[in-house]
Amino acid sequence: MMNLSDIARALVAPGKGILAADESEKTADEKRLAAFGIATGPEMHRKFRDMLLATPGIEAYLSGVILYKETLSQSDTKDGIPSKEIDALPFPELLAARGILPGIKVDEGLEPLSESPEESITKGLLGLPERLNEYHGESKTCFTKWRAAITIEGDRLPTARALVENAKRLATYACEVQKAGMVPMLEPEVLLDGAHSRLRSRAVIESAMRVLFDTLNEQCADLSGIIIKTSMALSGDKSGRTDTPEEVAEDTVGALMDTVPAEVAGIVFLSGGQTPDQATANLAAITKLARERNAPWPLTFSYGRALQEEAIMVWKGEDENVPAARKVFLERLEKVAAAIR
Ligand code: G3H
Repeated sequence: MMNLSDIARALVAPGKGILAADESEKTADEKRLAAFGIATGPEMHRKFRDMLLATPGIEAYLSGVILYKETLSQSDTKDGIPSKEIDALPFPELLAARGILPGIKVDEGLEPLSESPEESITKGLLGLPERLNEYHGESKTCFTKWRAAITIEGDRLPTARALVENAKRLATYACEVQKAGMVPMLEPEVLLDGAHSRLRSRAVIESAMRVLFDTLNEQCADLSGIIIKTSMALSGDKSGRTDTPEEVAEDTVGALMDTVPAEVAGIVFLSGGQTPDQATANLAAITKLARERNAPWPLTFSYGRALQEEAIMVWKGEDENVPAARKVFLERLEKVAAAIR
């Protein structure tokens, strides 16, 4: 049986990263299917996950996959397996059989923060211990994710209140997950939306991390058994500016080295609305600079959109397109994994 730091180290194993395939039913329907003209609903969610997760060879690039609760009880497409004698496998088992750790998103989305309704707080602490035991016991999930979303608007947002309240929930979540024998992945996502500069994004990442680690230290979470999932320091999507990979690397590595303790098991990046090529090039520059600066923690990717988008466009929801979509998915995985090698 793996202990917390074994699991955390396996998740950030050299040359591998994590696929975020943890969209809720609503996000899967609206942003991954309907947005590409694909039919929606539970069976289409299953086919969507099957297209990605049953791709032969992904284990060369993926240490883990973050799933959503609906996917835990869904299975791969039996007909895709040459021998019909092999039963369809529930997705967590399919991944585990290939040495990929199954993880689960356990937050329940965002709601307005009452003291500052333009900002959000993440729901999901109610009943969390019971859900964790169920996911760990029945689906053998090894790690979990909780996402907080931090909005930037000029110097006005985020408020200190939003950072503190989200940090408290992230820390409470982390302690509960460790008690349940799984590794928490804490994601204070600093959103790309807005006209802010890259330096403002860096400053907000730094503030969010400082508040988070102060809170984690008060709650005594074991830092060697946590993974941090972070945004890169990027100019806002309405700033009219595209940062070079070297600029992104300088401010991202700088922010993290100033704020994330060395004991943390690893740091993974979200793609956050970057194109697949941008997310790949920025990750390569970050990895290079982190090595030059002797960053104390392993770094890798935990991308959703940047890994999935091209495959979805080829797949179009049609069974006959699955082989071509898987080829494109594997090619992007190969490029992203090359960026961290
Ligand atoms: O919470 C966000 C996901 O885990 C990562 O998704 O790479 O599309 O931002 P993204």
